[in-house]
Amino acid sequence: MGTHEGKSIKEAGFECLMIQWQHVKRLIPLIGVMMLTLTGCGKPYLSALDPKGPVAEMQLSLIKLSLYIMIGVVLVVAIIFTYVLIRYRKRPNQDGIPEQVEGSAKLEILWTVIPIILLIILAVPMVSQTFTLAKDYSGESDTVRVKVIAHQFWWEFEYPDLGIKTAQELYIPTGKKIQFEITSADVIHAFWVPALGGKIDANPGMVNKMWLEADEPGVYQGRCAELCGASHALMDFSVIAVSSGEFEDWVKEMKTPPTETVDADLAKQGEEFFNQSCITCHAVNGTGGNFGPDLSTFGDRQKIAGILEFNEENLERWLKDPQGVKPGNKMPNLNLNDEQISGLVEYLVNLKR
Ligand code: CUA
Repeated sequence: MGTHEGKSIKEAGFECLMIQWQHVKRLIPLIGVMMLTLTGCGKPYLSALDPKGPVAEMQLSLIKLSLYIMIGVVLVVAIIFTYVLIRYRKRPNQDGIPEQVEGSAKLEILWTVIPIILLIILAVPMVSQTFTLAKDYSGESDTVRVKVIAHQFWWEFEYPDLGIKTAQELYIPTGKKIQFEITSADVIHAFWVPALGGKIDANPGMVNKMWLEADEPGVYQGRCAELCGASHALMDFSVIAVSSGEFEDWVKEMKTPPTETVDADLAKQGEEFFNQSCITCHAVNGTGGNFGPDLSTFGDRQKIAGILEFNEENLERWLKDPQGVKPGNKMPNLNLNDEQISGLVEYLVNLKR
């Protein structure tokens, strides 16, 4: 056996491994802390592990299937590894090299066939469900079609068959397939409602299709899942699932122009200001620009800018400093005075169905 500085290759190799291990050992507490921290990540209402519809259920079942197979493989390998390590370790009275074995047709067939079987078990439901999830339900009478247009950093929802346009809060009926046509007005975003399923990219100049369904009424949080700019993490939206009857009522209310509730002087003042400035970007009841979210039923929202709790204080905060609340969004700081702000607040909170 060749020697190197008086050591055998085996000894030198062992020393080298020990040095590497010394380095790795130092990282173990750090990795442990990072893992613990990561398990604390996520919010219960943004979890794919608590499915509320058939798509999310299918996706979770695939996650579980692949996880169980992987756990099985890791366990079997670890057990065999530990057994071999102990059973064939070097005994004190043992000298020389043990009997050398090369090649085993039996073993090689075994460890080729087992992974193939595991991959087939994984592939069959995976491929069949991929086709189920990619189905386009547009043509079916019971389906609700929704066009989703992602913007930096908000979501536009259009119901082409119902003639309704809204933003940030998506109403859907339970127990019906919602067929989405998803695109973007600027950069690449991704549409994701963890409790219902997903996710799919929103690409500019392209339409991606996906369907979702909610089993029970509830508010499900959605979020952008593609880094799209400074306020990517704030690009939230809500899916509000209601019974079929309630959904029909909502559609009717959305299509009837709101009765004149704006009568107070302050609100009138706000409306005038809105019609001079904000209307370039924001539409109300079909009049106005398309650059910002449609505000026709703003007073019914559950959130302001998709992230703040809906109340007058937060609306004031938003109007005063939209860039502070959602950095990089396309609404400029307008330097409004207190009177303009209180007028706008009064006007906007009264925009209701
Ligand atoms: Cu839009 Cu991230």
